Amino acid sequence: MKRFDSIDEVRALIAEWHEAGGTVALVPTMGNLHKGHMSLVARAAGEADHVVVSIFVNPTQFGPNEDYEDYPRSLDADSRRLSQAGVDLLFAPSVETMYPDGADVATTVNVPGLSDVLEGEHRPGHFEGVTSVVCRLLNICNPDVAVFGQKDYQQFAILKRMAADLQLPVRLVAEPTEREQNGLAMSSRNGYLDDDQQQTATAIYKSLQQAQTELLDGARDYPELERAAEASIKAAGLSPEYVAIREVGDLSQPGPDSTDLVVLTAARLGKVRLIDNLIVTL
Ligand code: PAJ
Repeated sequence: MKRFDSIDEVRALIAEWHEAGGTVALVPTMGNLHKGHMSLVARAAGEADHVVVSIFVNPTQFGPNEDYEDYPRSLDADSRRLSQAGVDLLFAPSVETMYPDGADVATTVNVPGLSDVLEGEHRPGHFEGVTSVVCRLLNICNPDVAVFGQKDYQQFAILKRMAADLQLPVRLVAEPTEREQNGLAMSSRNGYLDDDQQQTATAIYKSLQQAQTELLDGARDYPELERAAEASIKAAGLSPEYVAIREVGDLSQPGPDSTDLVVLTAARLGKVRLIDNLIVTL
């Protein structure tokens, strides 16, 4: 596996692959890799001839009171894991490489509307940071396909809209959420939780499953289902920020005849903020 931190080296190698008729899949990450990330890598290998993984803890998507400084960084261990998984290229740029004139003055990409609801309401500016960095990564790597996780459902919906609106010549695909045996969605931030808290956090997925069961049983009072799910998350000892039942396509409010729904939630446990979602097809 090659490991580059310069844009020129990445461009040159990927151009070589393309000239030889090969296809390229990109998996953008912030590192501290877990099984969820590795399932995206496996999907990427099935989608294209060459797999590129980027690791970049992107400062512009963290709020002023979030964990940018503390975000777990484990580049050498990540690099070994990716190499063993058969990844061809790891792109791990510095902040200066990605934002040479400083992140504060850099050009931004914003997807209005979709970026302002749910996660966007609770993390102002977060999605602008995500779209701005993913657009750059796509321009640097020029992949045929880019792979994301369903775990960050809203992020994927926003990135798809960005790629469509900006006519980016790339296909975006999503992989299902990898979970611990107890149902907790895998996340780089789970490491902040002790064993008891990890157990407590299983209430998140359980309450999503409960909402799913009721929807499948015919319940259509969405606000009531959202309130019930919030109550059970709260009863377990977490602080829910929202539970929202939305249309899968554009995250709009569903009507009584909607058939393709996603139940999304964010909850706090101590200092840790956890998100999860479940697609429900009626
Ligand atoms: P990060 O949180 O490192 O996640 C990288 C990719 O892994 C994302 O597409 C995310 O949805 C996916 N992922 C995380 N946990 C997962 C799980 N349990 N199962 C399946 N996939 C999972 O998301 C980001 O980084 C950043 O916002 C990024 C897109 C890299 C832009 O900076």
